[in-house]
Amino acid sequence: MVQQRWIRWPEGARRGTASAGQNGPLGFGGDYNPEQWPPEVWEQDVRLMQEAGVNLVTVGVFSWARIQPDPDTWDFEWLDQVLDLLHAHDIAADLATATASPPAWLTTAHPEMLPVDRSGTVLSQGGRQAWSPSSTVYREHSLHLVERMADRYGNHPALAMWHVSNELGCHNGRCYSELSARGFRRWLQGRYGDLDTLNRAWATDFWSQRYGAWDQIEPPRVAPSFSNPTQQLDFARFSSDALRDQLRAEAAVLRRVTPEVPVTTNFMVMSHFRDVDYATWTGDLDLVSNDHYMMAHDPSAHVELAFCADQTRGLAGGQPWMLMESSTSAVSWQPVNAAKPVDQMRRNSLTQVARGADAVCFFQWRASAAGAEKYHSAMLPHAGTDSELWRGVVGLGADLRRLAEVSGSTVRNRVAMVVDQENEWAAELDAHPSALLSARGTAQAWYRSLWDAGVGVDVVPRGTELAGYRVVLAPMLHLVRDADAAALAAFTRAGGHLVVTYFSGIADEDDHVRLGGYPGAFRDLLGVRVEEFRPLLPGQEVRLEGAGLGAWTGSLWSEPVVANGATVLATYSDGPSAGFAAITRCEQGGGSAWYVSTELDAGGRAAVLDTVLTASGVSAAVTATAGTEVTVRQGEGVEYVFAINHTGAQGTVEAAGTDLLTGRAHPGPVSVPAGGVVVLRR
Ligand code: GLA
Repeated sequence: MVQQRWIRWPEGARRGTASAGQNGPLGFGGDYNPEQWPPEVWEQDVRLMQEAGVNLVTVGVFSWARIQPDPDTWDFEWLDQVLDLLHAHDIAADLATATASPPAWLTTAHPEMLPVDRSGTVLSQGGRQAWSPSSTVYREHSLHLVERMADRYGNHPALAMWHVSNELGCHNGRCYSELSARGFRRWLQGRYGDLDTLNRAWATDFWSQRYGAWDQIEPPRVAPSFSNPTQQLDFARFSSDALRDQLRAEAAVLRRVTPEVPVTTNFMVMSHFRDVDYATWTGDLDLVSNDHYMMAHDPSAHVELAFCADQTRGLAGGQPWMLMESSTSAVSWQPVNAAKPVDQMRRNSLTQVARGADAVCFFQWRASAAGAEKYHSAMLPHAGTDSELWRGVVGLGADLRRLAEVSGSTVRNRVAMVVDQENEWAAELDAHPSALLSARGTAQAWYRSLWDAGVGVDVVPRGTELAGYRVVLAPMLHLVRDADAAALAAFTRAGGHLVVTYFSGIADEDDHVRLGGYPGAFRDLLGVRVEEFRPLLPGQEVRLEGAGLGAWTGSLWSEPVVANGATVLATYSDGPSAGFAAITRCEQGGGSAWYVSTELDAGGRAAVLDTVLTASGVSAAVTATAGTEVTVRQGEGVEYVFAINHTGAQGTVEAAGTDLLTGRAHPGPVSVPAGGVVVLRR
């Protein structure tokens, strides 16, 4: 659980925001990399930051080589000057520990600290993050740097928070080096104690894999055939823990030297990153921060963004969190880096606030003139201040000042979706019945249906208390621990409504199949039994028909479901499972447990959700025209209704109140301009 200590705003940075909420002003700013520019530019930077309403910048992320140019030389003067300048201009610093990218002198002296990929290729210096999480040399040098940073800047008036490393695991999330092999063995000894237990958990009697000594065990490097699945899963767990050890070690230094300063590290809750189980990291942080970048080719990118924002809030235990990085326009690492229209930047930024972010920051403040990210957008583009982008940034800063009173308010929904990184790793291992399955993909499809229905959902990690919810979705919860299965059963028996989808309940924590028929852990709860999987070929669709639910199609997967206590709501009318149940409901105490045994099309998902939501008495908190996203943040005795119109036509939201963005009072319903945003206080 997150400790929740918010940004320690310096007095100056609060100034200019009249009616700030509980967490002070909404943070606004970005990564600031002054080391890429001569000092003359710094003066202009801080002046323009003020003009844009920037109150928070992240400094020092990639400045290790500048701060410590050789093992015995430290150069802090430039950073002193930068922090003084920021402070003089009432801009708070989210100060990085600067450990993200070790300097060349360190990797040259200790090449064994370089990360190694699965095929044994050493990843060299010359990019960034060239360190193995299992390197003690890296650990020692990085902690020394953290100590020096904390000693030097712990009392600096600009210091508002610490930023450990940067996107831990971004490029070195899986390291297969010799050092990692040793670390992995130690981790396994901690987990299993003795080799017999490990051999059992890994089922090493299969394919003659039995280990007789710890040092026979390797990371799952490229092998002649499929690597042992539990070995792969444990290596994913170990790799996430190895990065967390770095976080913990840095945070421990910071908390010893500056116990009053909050500590974060920027997560990457984005659909294309999956190397870290963040739910196991939040207890080490004072506040949760996230980086989010949209995939330009995805027409539903704004819904993926909403999902990730809700998931970040789930990691923050429902409390406010901060958006540490996003892009004002194009990024520089996709095949085609499409520009983002300014009004989209505004909508996307305010979606993050609508879903609990109390800070909106970007990578980066000033667009680099050189280096690998010179074509990445920034708050201040290459074109300078005479640009649409700059005017949009200034406009967003003004919007955030007008919204300051929402800070500290929270989002509370009656629907939850349980997601679990460990499950995603397991569900998508190789040598499975279908390589086409995606746990996150199906979770996001169900999320999309709720988004379309305007129903808010808390995307929560396993282990979250479910008692306050009416409906819980468990999409493809393939690997499930006994305690988590029991919690879902208890939720249902206490009157909750649960929707479980295909390939769920199959494996235990060691990735061993739960025997006796699928869906293993959920067989009794769902009142169904399945003898075998019948996955569908690429592009294959099957038809489903049901009395009350309508006719829909399924893809990717089917199962010959036999009801064993459940009511059949839809049946497969063709395909490999023709004649068998496809969707079922089992009454449990006051609640019900639904099973959906295929990747249902959008109409089918909407029909299922409509029935479940009606049965549970949940509806959209506030309705709006299609394509207008609505969320509600709740403060003390006040609610903030965010309505964000993603369409090119004027929309309407069925609410009344004062629009914080314009100051105008509306009796309601309120028009939401095409592509625009309304935030009503009511
Ligand atoms: C990540 C990093 C930043 C920058 C951006 C570019 O989020 O943290 O340093 O590289 O990506 O999108």
